[in-house]
Amino acid sequence: MADLARFDLLADFLVQQFAAPRIWDVAGGMGKLNQALTVRGRQCTTFDVRWKHLPGLDYREQLLELDEPCACDLIVGLHADGATRIIVEYAAHHQLPFVIVPCCSDNSMPYKPWLRHLAELAQSLGMTTRQRDLPMRGRCTMIIGEHKPQ
Ligand SMILES: C[S@@+](CC[C@H](N)C(=O)[O-])C[C@H]1O[C@@H](n2cnc3c(N)ncnc32)[C@H](O)[C@@H]1O
Repeated sequence: MADLARFDLLADFLVQQFAAPRIWDVAGGMGKLNQALTVRGRQCTTFDVRWKHLPGLDYREQLLELDEPCACDLIVGLHADGATRIIVEYAAHHQLPFVIVPCCSDNSMPYKPWLRHLAELAQSLGMTTRQRDLPMRGRCTMIIGEHKPQ
């Protein structure tokens, strides 16, 4: 069972670490991370294919594609499962930082190799990565990807 504190913990981390006014939350489920970021003064848009979600949020019922026009300063994915890889690719393509908290892989890869694979994917696309853990139960490791200064 994923830790229900994850939305507030990640929102606090994002707000402390990134000045980004506009944040995209990909595979955001019900929109709870969106809600946590909104109360912290950030503008958040959630992408997910679920029709059932919290009211009053900026919520797009769609998959994120690489050619989606970029209108954010940071892209994140909390236990984004099948959407985790596109977050890394989108961030590299659009010169954005990303923060992902991986959970299940999109190809049956076990958890630790999946973390390694995602970090290596970002690095192969020209980004630097670091890892930090959120103080919560379950899959709590964040991979933070940033672009090297020019
Ligand atoms: C484990 S849930 C996590 C939801 C939320 N982030 C949370 O922590 O509660 C994974 C979510 O990923 C969404 N999802 C999976 N593949 C996706 C994709 N390619 N694009 C958008 N959403 C996707 C599912 O609809 C589901 O809501």
